[in-house]
Amino acid sequence: MAYSRHLLGIEGLNPVSVTSLLDLAASYVLLNRSGKTQRDALRGRTLVNLFFEDSTRTRTSFELAGKRLGADVINMSVATSSVTKGETLLDTAATLNAMNCDLLVVRHNRSGAPALLAQKVDAAVINAGDGTHEHPTQALLDALTIRRHKGRISGLIVAICGDVAHSRVARSNILLLTMMGNFVRLVGPPTLIPAGIEGLGVTVFHDMAAGLSGADIVMALRLQKERMSAGLVPSAREFFNFYGLDRAKLSHAAPDALVMHPGPMNRGVEIDSDIADDPVRSVIREQVEMGVAVRMAVLESLAKGNNR
Ligand code: NCD
Repeated sequence: MAYSRHLLGIEGLNPVSVTSLLDLAASYVLLNRSGKTQRDALRGRTLVNLFFEDSTRTRTSFELAGKRLGADVINMSVATSSVTKGETLLDTAATLNAMNCDLLVVRHNRSGAPALLAQKVDAAVINAGDGTHEHPTQALLDALTIRRHKGRISGLIVAICGDVAHSRVARSNILLLTMMGNFVRLVGPPTLIPAGIEGLGVTVFHDMAAGLSGADIVMALRLQKERMSAGLVPSAREFFNFYGLDRAKLSHAAPDALVMHPGPMNRGVEIDSDIADDPVRSVIREQVEMGVAVRMAVLESLAKGNNR
């Protein structure tokens, strides 16, 4: 798979390509903040947002990123497309080819769907989340947020907490953060941590106090009930008692630990509002801002074919 053409996962990037994407994204943060946002790097290019699953921040930030770079942006959501009339993924690919789409952003509930499309379309494909597999732009925006606050993206203790089993965000973050030389811990009940995941170079904890001890970054994940086939947690209240991020549990982390969450949040389930809205510890809103800049960087480098 030519990873210079598509962004299907963090797998396929390397520390140099990650750093250059983050550097380009950092320049877009400054530009976005300056208000002079209209660029023409993607003038004349067509970006299609193809979302087979609901999304708020990911879809809108890809849309904004494309528009800020001057692309023509088309949003195709499944409810309004012929996919609901039985068209297969490959027919959809043929239609997109006929429209000369340059950049295709795909979210799908099946792991591997963007990779399948990438084999069939002429466009550069960007995985915006596939099943429980990967969500690379989320990991990149998390890395940019961390780097801005900690001044580096290596040598940090990062605790990823909660529903790791169903989280493509966790998987992409594990791949990126271990590749960059961080110490990644996964903290959650045994039912929500995949067996054998230590093979990815992480340490598993089932107790929040131990898992958060001395952590520089604490990342809470949404409890993804829609992906659970059976009741893997007794109740939301019990989950919160043991694994919900509140001030008492956070006190075990480093005094300047950052709190992150990819959104959407279940307040009072995996995170307490008191922590989520804490202006000093929580960078959850900044993650959203970084999302636009990171997606601008990804779109621009894929359009130029130089993300190697
Ligand atoms: C995540 C996703 O869709 O994987 N959301 C996001 O893109 N910010 C996480 C989630 O749905 O919980």
